[in-house]
Amino acid sequence: MQAEPDVSNIMQTQTLRPTNDGFSTAADLLASGGLVAFPTETVYGLGGDARDGAAVAGIYAAKGRPSFNPLIVHVADLDMAQRFAVFDKLALKLADEFWPGPMTLVLPLRDDAGLSELVTAGLDTVAIRVPAHPVARELLTAFDGPIAAPSANPSGGISPTRAAHVRDGLGGRIDAILNGGKCAVGLESTIVMPKDGMVHLLRSGGVPAEDIAGLHIPDQTNETAPTSPGQLASHYAPNARLRMNVTSANDDEHMIGFGDVKGQINLSKDGDLIEAAANLFAYLHIADEDAQTLGKSKIAVAPIPMIGLGVAINDRLKRASADRD
Ligand code: TXA
Ligand code: MG
Repeated sequence: MQAEPDVSNIMQTQTLRPTNDGFSTAADLLASGGLVAFPTETVYGLGGDARDGAAVAGIYAAKGRPSFNPLIVHVADLDMAQRFAVFDKLALKLADEFWPGPMTLVLPLRDDAGLSELVTAGLDTVAIRVPAHPVARELLTAFDGPIAAPSANPSGGISPTRAAHVRDGLGGRIDAILNGGKCAVGLESTIVMPKDGMVHLLRSGGVPAEDIAGLHIPDQTNETAPTSPGQLASHYAPNARLRMNVTSANDDEHMIGFGDVKGQINLSKDGDLIEAAANLFAYLHIADEDAQTLGKSKIAVAPIPMIGLGVAINDRLKRASADRD
């Protein structure tokens, strides 16, 4: 291997080939919380263990995403998918017809799914798909677990369809790139939500709408249509009122601390923003539940610095605090 200059604040991004060695290195990296970009038939994904909050927070940090959108969970097959999501008859029919392939299903999250709440952004649904690309499938089999993966580009950039695109955008910020050549589809997966016997389109993509029988395309002009994308709850919002940048909570507030600012719970006692991001949605849920049981009807959150993942954390808190205004 060619020696590369040592730059201590930049990690070395290995390029892995789709060989037995490459797959086992990639699977080991994922198992230890690392980030591995890998090809799917649509675009390259930036993968991390979907059960590992710190790994998922690392995905957002590497992409420099200023907000937390829920991510797609990639699985090897329907059996693995059923460990995380609840499939009704219609969901099973869609899986049977379109998996493996560029179709993502948004389904009820199982109570015992064990996914990081950052993957689902605290929602009670999960977006899940079985990719068709042989390299993605081999990696999922080797890892034997769920891989959360948005497209492997810096936030605001173009989705990568070659390993070289990933290296250009994320080289030095992720552990490895599994090189599987060019992506055939080049367009993200189609996202649908089967619900009450209807298939709702949430995002157009690799599977053309006309190929999906009975597809319900939201009417953008009908403001009362419950499925229009703007109305779809794409984020968890706590029921309790939330106040930000609090250093001293009122009696009726459940305090979520950060760093030295103490609370009933603390996002990260060390002031680590990756740890804080990994805990964020779970702690909002806890504070929300306690708001009812402890008689603390409101939530207060300590100041979070506006650097790194702090930007996305503050964005989420701001939405939660503004929701009632
Ligand atoms: O082709 C693809 O789908 C690529 C490859 C890597 O698989 N992945 C991808 O992921 O495009 P990403 O993170 O860029 O897009 C995920 C989309 C977002 O628009 C997000 O809002 C939506 O999925 N999504 C995720 N979970 C959801 C949920 N529970 N309900 C509604 N929308 C959800
Ligand atoms: Mg993207």
